[in-house]
Amino acid sequence: MTTPTAIAAPPTAVTTTTLSTFEPRQLRDVLGTFVTGVTVVTTRDANGTAHGVTANSFSSVSLDPPLILWSQSLTSKSYPAFRDSAHFAVNILADDQIAISNHFAKSREDKFSGIAYSQGLGGSPVLAGASAHLECIKVAAYPSGDHVVYIGRVERIGHSRRRALAFGGGQYMVAYSHDLGPTALQRGSTRPAHLAGIRLATAALPDIAKQVGNHTLCLAVWGNHGPTAVHWEPSSQPVSDQLRTGLVMSTTRSATGRAFAAFLPSDMTQPLIDEDLRIYPFENEDLAAGRIRFERDITEVKQHGLARSIGAEPSPLHQIAVNAFSAPIYDEQGHMVMALSLTAKATRLSPEWTGNVPCTLAKVAQALSKQLGYSAT
Ligand SMILES: Cc1cc2nc3c(=O)[nH]c(=O)nc-3n(C[C@H](O)[C@H](O)[C@H](O)COP(=O)(O)O)c2cc1C
Repeated sequence: MTTPTAIAAPPTAVTTTTLSTFEPRQLRDVLGTFVTGVTVVTTRDANGTAHGVTANSFSSVSLDPPLILWSQSLTSKSYPAFRDSAHFAVNILADDQIAISNHFAKSREDKFSGIAYSQGLGGSPVLAGASAHLECIKVAAYPSGDHVVYIGRVERIGHSRRRALAFGGGQYMVAYSHDLGPTALQRGSTRPAHLAGIRLATAALPDIAKQVGNHTLCLAVWGNHGPTAVHWEPSSQPVSDQLRTGLVMSTTRSATGRAFAAFLPSDMTQPLIDEDLRIYPFENEDLAAGRIRFERDITEVKQHGLARSIGAEPSPLHQIAVNAFSAPIYDEQGHMVMALSLTAKATRLSPEWTGNVPCTLAKVAQALSKQLGYSAT
């Protein structure tokens, strides 16, 4: 038996205005929130002329018998052709076919000149490069307000498995699988919420920058070569001209690396800690001595729930001495998924653990963990 789980309440900040009278524009905006794919529906008239129109009103209706629908505006120039034709084909566009979508969304004389296609059922054009297509016999047409709804019985289908183009809010979109994040767990999935976490934290960074002051912020994940920057929020007083996405930081010397070393399982981090200690020995210490020293540093990091690196000398990365702090962000399972780090010129940022800036950084990292479903208790 599965254990019932609570469904998260919507965020309290969200307000919905319900309107019983509305302008067409407002209705269009609401309808536009329903994200769809994009199709080009085609047919061929009795004179042998091909017609095509971009349409996102396409929908499946029935599997047995196989029925689909789409609706066409009565003002559409190609309406008489579709009205009188016995067949049509629905071409589901791929995500690199925006130009094709725009092309068929405008009335023009010969829409098919320069377009690659093959002949489908009843001569309806089947466009090259689409994600999929359905060739149909028109079985019904229902006038509905300023549109007519066509029902088609699907006779032949084709599928290229190219990623489909999406459309929502009046804009083209690319549809990727959802990294379900916290909701995945509610359904019993153990998939990690990394992408959801990165999206959430990246969106929050400009606001966090305001809270912690004008300092360089970095979001980092644990990559296969150690702490890896996935996003930077620059400061008006830059600490380096070399900060870029994908930058791998030192595991033992950077605040970010120390945060991962303290809060990730040691079997994940120890090989890179050892490599760092071998490459950058501290005052000629051997690996064993380096490990003991670093272990002491990490104990302190664990006590504070926060990592730091103090007054690091100018280096190839930072051309000036900097202080930095880094706080862990956890997922709902209590795994550290990201580090939120802050760097500033040493003269602008006190290295004290109890300073305003590190305390705020720790608090915002805790708030992000909470949003990812982490509960400290
Ligand atoms: C993304 C998108 C979706 C559209 N969906 C529809 C639709 O479902 N039905 C429709 O009649 N027009 C739809 N249109 C508008 C037509 O493509 C447009 O009016 C086109 O000019 C019609 O071609 P025609 O005048 O040659 O018939 C859509 C346009 C876009 C850009």
